[in-house]
Amino acid sequence: TCIFQIFRSPFRTRRAPLALCVRGQQSHAATRTVDDERMWTGQESLAQDDPEMWELLQKEKDRQTRGLELIASEEIMHLIAPFCSVCFFCLFVCLFVLFCVYWSNPSLPCPHRYYGGAEVVDQIELLCQKRALEAFDLDPALWGVNVQPYSGSPANFAVYTAVLNPHDRIMGLDLPDGGHLTHGYMSDTKRISATSIYFESMPYKLNTATGLIDYDQMEMTARLFRPKLIIAGTSAYARLIDYARIKKLCTELKAYMLADMAHISGLVAGKAVPSPFEHADLVTSTTHKSLRGARAGLIFYRKGVRSVDKKGKEIMYDLEDKINFSVFPSLQGGPHNHAIAGVAVALKQAQSPMFREYIAQVLKNSKAMATALLSKGYTLVSGGTDNHLVLVDLRPKGIDGARAERVLELVSITANKNTCPGDKSALTPGGLRLGAPALTSRQFKEADFVQVVEFMDEGFKIALDVKKKTAKLQDFKNFLLQDPETVARIADLRHRVEAFARPFPMPGFHDH
Ligand SMILES: *Cc1c(COP(=O)(O)O)cnc(C)c1O
Ligand SMILES: *[C@@H]1O[C@H](CO)[C@@H](O)[C@H](O)[C@H]1NC(C)=O
Repeated sequence: TCIFQIFRSPFRTRRAPLALCVRGQQSHAATRTVDDERMWTGQESLAQDDPEMWELLQKEKDRQTRGLELIASEEIMHLIAPFCSVCFFCLFVCLFVLFCVYWSNPSLPCPHRYYGGAEVVDQIELLCQKRALEAFDLDPALWGVNVQPYSGSPANFAVYTAVLNPHDRIMGLDLPDGGHLTHGYMSDTKRISATSIYFESMPYKLNTATGLIDYDQMEMTARLFRPKLIIAGTSAYARLIDYARIKKLCTELKAYMLADMAHISGLVAGKAVPSPFEHADLVTSTTHKSLRGARAGLIFYRKGVRSVDKKGKEIMYDLEDKINFSVFPSLQGGPHNHAIAGVAVALKQAQSPMFREYIAQVLKNSKAMATALLSKGYTLVSGGTDNHLVLVDLRPKGIDGARAERVLELVSITANKNTCPGDKSALTPGGLRLGAPALTSRQFKEADFVQVVEFMDEGFKIALDVKKKTAKLQDFKNFLLQDPETVARIADLRHRVEAFARPFPMPGFHDH
């Protein structure tokens, strides 16, 4: 009868006929729920189909709504993306793609396609490429883009794989100074990032006095180290990058210049900061930070003339084939079509006046946050901000980023600890990184950010008081949860933070 059941009802779940199978023989059936026996139609809601996951998603939605999200790389979309109305198309295409197509690759000529049935997803990918070029005002004769990288880190590794040989040299901003892991991070004792395992990496640093990139030192080191690629891009840097100066250095050394605009690509699309495309040979980005899309990565590469030699002969860029081959088949298999569809939607939005306004507001909010912090006597690395984030140096106040982060977390404010120039410990660094994009998407304006700073200031004071009464970080953390007076102070602040945050709208949520 089991086999009969399976053939009779192709739409039953695999478990259902099994359940019927065992039922006759033993008491297992008693432990099976009614759910197991119902016909599966493919039309069930997630709440019906997977109540456990549904419950977790509700919890995460609630956490997002009652809290203040200040992590600079966070946007509200990608956590619950399929349930946001903004990403409704993403969900639709995602399901469609999931059920219909596995693998296409328009970057390969037709005979090389691996599976058929990919016409629609090919169109989605081509649309995404077109919009990526449009969003950054790029001429398709001079720039191409690969939209298949799974995320920012794979995009960077694909660039290295495309233009470098193993053990070739690269330079990037050091991680403790605001660079990204993938820019070659290694500690004193260990090669941490694969970039430093497969290539030889040399960091450049911030000037500890100014908190700005030390270009003089970069130039001096680069002339000795002779890197084949220099990365201009940051994850925790509140100022603009001097792309022209880095490009000049790259030209001198015949190195490639890679601009990694992961954090600021929304600001570039919104024309709030200078574009790296004017100078870079290659540009990578994530799509889920300030660009506010589904989680993925992009690689832009130059086409056309790279340089002219002494005899007047033009030397052309040959990046297109190399990047394509590196992404697929060197590093990846099938593209994440659902992500590509979501990114295409985000790239359309990124060209709209609505997005331009949003980004302008991100900058105003970031500056309002910086001004409010300064007026309360806090120290900012580099003294201020030109972009979406602020780096607070808490050392002059007698606390550190780890302690501050923990107290803020307990009062429903999420921010992350960050090293400041001159920091010794990565576990208890002196700073805190605060970003404006996520709350700006919830319609926060300048005055709201001033209130956010008030809340943070109260949190920092709790951290300072508790630090005076405790020794190690772990004692500090225990004390926060055990000392009755501190527990009450934290609860009071948390209630006020949540009462303030909850009324602000959350894109895509109806019930906040
Ligand atoms: C976030 C980030 C990345 C990596 O992005 P993932 O999508 O997390 O892999 C790369 N470079 C920079 C500068 C970043 O900030
Ligand atoms: C490289 O890939 C892009 C899409 O990812 C495609 O448009 C282009 O034609 C490809 N180029 C080559 C030379 O295969």
